[in-house]
Amino acid sequence: MSTSRSPLVVRGIIRAPGDKSISHRALIFAAMASGPSRIRDILASADVHATAAALRAMGADIPALSDDFIVHGHGVAALHSPESALDCGNSGTTTRLVAGLVAGLPGRVARFEGDASLSRRPMRRIAAPLTGMGARIDFESADGHDGLPMRVHGMPLSAITVVNTHASAQVKGALLLAGLASGSGVTVQEPQRSRDHTERMLLARGVHLEMTDDGVVLPAAQRLNPVDVVVPSDPSSAAFFAALAALADDGVLRLENVCLNPTRTGAFDVLRRMGMRLDVENERTIGGESIGTVVAYPASLQGTAIGGAEIPRCIDELPMLACVAARSAGETRITEAGELRVKESDRIRAVVENLRRLGVDAEELADGMRITGSQAGLSGHVVTHGDHRLAMAFGILAAIPGNHITIDDPGCVAVSYPTFWRDLAQATGSATHPTAGAIINMSEPTPLVIAIDGPAASGKSSTAQWVAQRLSVHHVDSGAFYRAITLLALASGVPPEQWAPEALLAEAHRITWRLTERSVLPLVDGQVHDDAMRDAPVTRQVSRVAQMAPVRQWVNEQVRSAGAATDVVVDGRDIGTAVFPDAALKVFLIADPWERARRRLIQRLGRRPNDAEIAEETEALVARDALDAAQSAPARDAITIDTTTVTQEEQVERIVALAKATRDRLRGQ
Ligand code: S3P
Repeated sequence: MSTSRSPLVVRGIIRAPGDKSISHRALIFAAMASGPSRIRDILASADVHATAAALRAMGADIPALSDDFIVHGHGVAALHSPESALDCGNSGTTTRLVAGLVAGLPGRVARFEGDASLSRRPMRRIAAPLTGMGARIDFESADGHDGLPMRVHGMPLSAITVVNTHASAQVKGALLLAGLASGSGVTVQEPQRSRDHTERMLLARGVHLEMTDDGVVLPAAQRLNPVDVVVPSDPSSAAFFAALAALADDGVLRLENVCLNPTRTGAFDVLRRMGMRLDVENERTIGGESIGTVVAYPASLQGTAIGGAEIPRCIDELPMLACVAARSAGETRITEAGELRVKESDRIRAVVENLRRLGVDAEELADGMRITGSQAGLSGHVVTHGDHRLAMAFGILAAIPGNHITIDDPGCVAVSYPTFWRDLAQATGSATHPTAGAIINMSEPTPLVIAIDGPAASGKSSTAQWVAQRLSVHHVDSGAFYRAITLLALASGVPPEQWAPEALLAEAHRITWRLTERSVLPLVDGQVHDDAMRDAPVTRQVSRVAQMAPVRQWVNEQVRSAGAATDVVVDGRDIGTAVFPDAALKVFLIADPWERARRRLIQRLGRRPNDAEIAEETEALVARDALDAAQSAPARDAITIDTTTVTQEEQVERIVALAKATRDRLRGQ
């Protein structure tokens, strides 16, 4: 390929996070069994948190999700009705699987709720067969459509044979769970084989089911044993990096520990058919699943036809394959993929609309799409509709030099791959650049992370905000993330003295972030809570939370992923040392404690403070400095600015000038 743009070189090892389908099921089966199940390497993403929370609400003993934990199951009989509605967030798998479980537990009732995207998704596909077995399901939305909110009443169920018109592992899983919970036999037939993790995991747990050519037969009265599980990496997540390698000009990516279950590897087959070299090494079987390292190389790609039995094997990867098709020679046709219309967004419409916005020749088909690829540079703004797979698919295109692509909601990757932007930065070698900010907006050839640090009341937050505005980049206030966690902690009703980092972090998945015009804004349960976050109760407790090392780690991860998503000015404690040690420009603001106290009081009181007030505040600040000493050292390469005698305007001008010089220097590299 001959282009004048700089080449995309990929390198390194990507270990994508745990498989989402297996993670949901590992939690559910552990809660249903009697005895301890150890779960390692679970995907701790928003969707899986939703399943954990739903099971906890039904009395299951599920600890905070971590890399290694034990669930002590007490059998299905111990599961009770949740006291309040189960919030399934964005997760169709949580809704459908847990609904199947509840349906098979007589006397239990649960109301299922979700976000706007989930509430639109069709639930009749589980409601009809579950009702056929004897459960009662009421749709409770104002317009009466067959989605959430939905109330499931568990009943004694009878055996059923379901012939499904389309392949769906969620529907199959819901029915198998209802059968297991109630002790009734279930047979499911499908036109094509959907992913079979439920079957494999149940077999590993001592359940006598039969996998047939066209489905599964679960006999009545089965017992489920507790089993330890190590969750392999999600092939649907790893596939984004296979695509990145395919589209690169040079290098190689090793994707480790990938689940290679044949019902999941359709995207790898399609990429090979398009001309890509993908090798598999170190293949082995763990917990009934085949696992291996996928080695992915750059290629010259050709369009292809994707349809039929291949569709369920790559259903979640189709947005990514469509983006790859946009860079492949000739035409790609995706057909028999109508299911895409009822995923987290209408993925046929959303993918085609976004491709067209970028200048790609793409067309919607009733059950798929047609794309004609080219090597022309792509530019434009991608609207994800909060759909994680769209953000990541277009994120891959955005990483190609010469493309100028911005993405409206990069934070939505938290649904399935919270560290996606960081991994993308690593794979594209942005780690050798000072920052990872190139990922979303390649129009800046060498992007910046500007880290502004300093002691309490040094004015770093307002300065950072102002600098970001002057440079037209995003401001990330890491303190806002601590405030968001504090808000959740206060809402939990637990007295602050009893707050434990594990308990706080168990709720942290409710915090996401969004890019607004000039800032990175933390959201709680998808909502902006600016006022409550700035209120006195939060202000009083936030430093307690900010002193907890695991919480700091979590906040740093959020801030890093924002910094990987866009050019940023970041302020906060240890930003230049721990969070962005490679930031292009680090500024450390200092000021005389008296002056800091004076400024803080003016801000707080809205008037000039008297000397006694300043003295008192100075004392408090000096004490706080001593407390913070461990996190407050400037980075070795930070530029210290003493702001005692300069106005904020002068200070901002100075940092802007430094930032511009840094940017010029990097561009000249
Ligand atoms: C899943 C099944 C698939 C897939 C989803 C996860 C599962 O959905 O798209 O991301 O874990 O069972 P369908 O079963 O609705 O096709």
